Amino acid sequence: MTKAQTMRIDRLLANMGYGSRRDIERMAEAKRVILDGRPIDDVSARIAVGPDLPARMFIDRERLDPPPGLIIALHKPLGVTCSHREAGALVFDLLPPRWRKRDPVISAVGRLDKDTSGLLLLTDDGPLLHRIIAPKSRVAKRYRVDLARPLTGEETALFGAGGIKLHGDEKPLLPAEFEPLAQASGLLTLHEGRYHQVRRMFAAIGNHVEALHRDQIGALRLPQDLTAGQWWALDEAGIALIFA
Ligand code: URA
Repeated sequence: MTKAQTMRIDRLLANMGYGSRRDIERMAEAKRVILDGRPIDDVSARIAVGPDLPARMFIDRERLDPPPGLIIALHKPLGVTCSHREAGALVFDLLPPRWRKRDPVISAVGRLDKDTSGLLLLTDDGPLLHRIIAPKSRVAKRYRVDLARPLTGEETALFGAGGIKLHGDEKPLLPAEFEPLAQASGLLTLHEGRYHQVRRMFAAIGNHVEALHRDQIGALRLPQDLTAGQWWALDEAGIALIFA
């Protein structure tokens, strides 16, 4: 969505999950919707939809949620699934419940396995999502890997050369960077995204991933003080870091 796009207030708020258009009308009548310090009296008025809106609009004294075009960074905990409809705990359960009713819907930018933790992006901006995951963008993703067996010392060269064929894949792997951290752990940076890629890469060289955590996408890092389950909305500078 471009910053200049305008929308009827009732439609915008309904699309953001605040209720039906009739609900929004009632909320405005009850002076619960404030724009630039004054209650809104005409919900059919059009408003420019941009990132400044949460600083200008309050509902029940709370800042408006990020409007359409949002992208958030979540610290995904272990044990939750990156899916809209699967049994068990879902990443979407970690977001405000009304966000489930948003249109456009919020989707995960790629996936982390249920038993992988770390930095996960979620957005309702389809073109941005595709730009991040497009192979030609080559957005780097960094993982901290804890392994069942000690490193052999060959990993950096093996993964760095590229060319390994994973079981069932036609195309060989692109080069990836591996930096050992301890006897059985290290940081692996990938420039592509394949199903269970990190686990399959270590399986291909005779090791086994015991714990996996993504700490960086592009130059965007998961802050140390962001505990599992917490998230923050990215601004322009944050988005630029993804592609840096
Ligand atoms: N590679 C994996 O094996 N799992 C993930 O969740 C991400 C990358």
